[in-house]
Amino acid sequence: MGVWVGLALCCSGLERGQATQPGGRDVESRVEGLLRQMTLEEKLGQMTQVDLGALKEREDLWRLGLGSVLCGGNTDPEDNTPTTWRRTVLECQRLALQSRLKIPLLFGVDAVHGHNNVLGAVIFPHQIGLGATRNPGLVEWAARVTAEEMLATGIHWAFAPCVAVARDPRWGRTYESYSDDPALVGELGAAAIRGIQGGAVRRGYRALACAKHYAGDGGTTQGVDQGNTECDEATFRRLHLAPYREAVRAGVGSVMASYSSWNGVKLHGHRYLLTEVLQGELGFDGFVVSDWAAIDQLHPNYKEAIALAINAGVDMAMIPNGPGQANNYREFVRFLEELVREGRVPESRIDDAVRRILRAKVRLGLFERPFTDEGLLQRLGSPEHRAVARVCVQQSLVLLKNERRVLPLSSKARRIHVVGPGADDLGMQCGGWTISWQGSTGAVTPGGTTLLRALRRAVPAGVEVSYSADGADDMAAAAADVIVVVVAEKPYAEMMGDRKELSVAEEDRARVHKARATGKPVVTILYSGRPLILGSVWEDSDAVVAAWLPGTEGDGIADVLLGKVEPVGRLPRVWPRDNQRLSTDQAEADPLLPRGYGLGYSMRRR
Ligand code: GLC
Repeated sequence: MGVWVGLALCCSGLERGQATQPGGRDVESRVEGLLRQMTLEEKLGQMTQVDLGALKEREDLWRLGLGSVLCGGNTDPEDNTPTTWRRTVLECQRLALQSRLKIPLLFGVDAVHGHNNVLGAVIFPHQIGLGATRNPGLVEWAARVTAEEMLATGIHWAFAPCVAVARDPRWGRTYESYSDDPALVGELGAAAIRGIQGGAVRRGYRALACAKHYAGDGGTTQGVDQGNTECDEATFRRLHLAPYREAVRAGVGSVMASYSSWNGVKLHGHRYLLTEVLQGELGFDGFVVSDWAAIDQLHPNYKEAIALAINAGVDMAMIPNGPGQANNYREFVRFLEELVREGRVPESRIDDAVRRILRAKVRLGLFERPFTDEGLLQRLGSPEHRAVARVCVQQSLVLLKNERRVLPLSSKARRIHVVGPGADDLGMQCGGWTISWQGSTGAVTPGGTTLLRALRRAVPAGVEVSYSADGADDMAAAAADVIVVVVAEKPYAEMMGDRKELSVAEEDRARVHKARATGKPVVTILYSGRPLILGSVWEDSDAVVAAWLPGTEGDGIADVLLGKVEPVGRLPRVWPRDNQRLSTDQAEADPLLPRGYGLGYSMRRR
């Protein structure tokens, strides 16, 4: 039994990681002791998070006593290697520790499907694929591996998991959502939090998770990114708050506020939801971080915007702008100090925010061990870590159709012809948030395996796997026993992925239709961040597999196509029938395929 199958077994029975952070008097007394020593300027510094790209004068780390630094989706070190990431992070930490009270820095990244900005890191399936696994043990395991790869570069804070309940797949962030079902989102979000914060990471280092984006980011009208979620409170609670109840129960140490609005009120300025509900009713004792320059959206005057956000319950501001730019981090500190001096932001609010931030740092053990062990680097991108991602890929695939039992690929198939640019394109296999914010096509990161390469090394001796990216090789198609067509979305992230309709691209439809015309069995593999309107692709395919955005471990797809493992994935969200009924609410009535649908090779409907 290969390591990855053994792993799959242990993942299913994975005992729970430590769900909550250490709490208790010792943490609180340490926090209060520090708070009493801090000047107002030092407190405001802790509430300030700066993108590394804006931090030209790194002395500000100790001069201002900055609480946090992030590397946003496009802020990679110029030489993007794990070693350079680690060196960069440690340099920032050393500078931060030169501040008067030596309060360690909290460094954060969007490790949303692996430590995905770092070359050579393992890239896991995006959350929609993990949603299809419905396997909390596996999700926890994947999160733990991600945390370990992140800690190897000295970084303690992952802006993950996204616990959005994406209701309209036109939203460009649908793939960051586990499901359109809040219960599944809550279950898997809690598992990811346990995995990231579990403390079972090697040598006892802890990482901090961040449930995002609070709240209702996935419920906006027509799926418009940063749009407006329009519903009554009972619906908002049932759909969009429910996963946060699970996240808080799992001990999540931070929450990121959403750019979106609820009934026209921006979440970043929503005192009822941020303070009364999240911190009061749900009992969240971590801290709330803003999204990237999201505070700026509250008011044209930056100082007024800061007052609205901090008084509503935002504890830390994520600021991408540096000296010389509008709304920069130095202005944030200066304006917030003025607001406190003017009595427009109570110092008790500042103390509450800083208390929450310090509590997270104490619980992480950052004061004792601000630097992680360099030895962890050896595991970044390791075969053991890739084996975990391979199991995630295997279990994320959903078999939607399998006429004439064309899958698994018959051992009698001597010639397999593969078509579609996505079949040999790691960037399309990984999707957005990979090395760069939007992701890109091509060989985006070392160590990964495209489906084409995986098939070629997995087929029995004597079996030929031919390839034609554009499907123009008629001879190879005519000579084949089966044709595998990969239909792939081009990578995107956030608002760049918003669509008005979700039909499969014409060139992809044409490739599948051309394969159909050969009379050979046609297997269509979908790389997509959401359900697509398949149209003629459905009729022209004998088999259809939803592979979502599987990440670097293409072997996991080959394992299923060749029958080494059964497809066990089930749809994490409704698959709409047409472009007229795309949102879950409308499509629920008459979907092409219902949530929970998935075939196995024994053809029983799961
Ligand atoms: C982005 C995203 C958020 C991410 C943050 C930092 O705009 O909305 O998910 O964590 O900025 O990159």
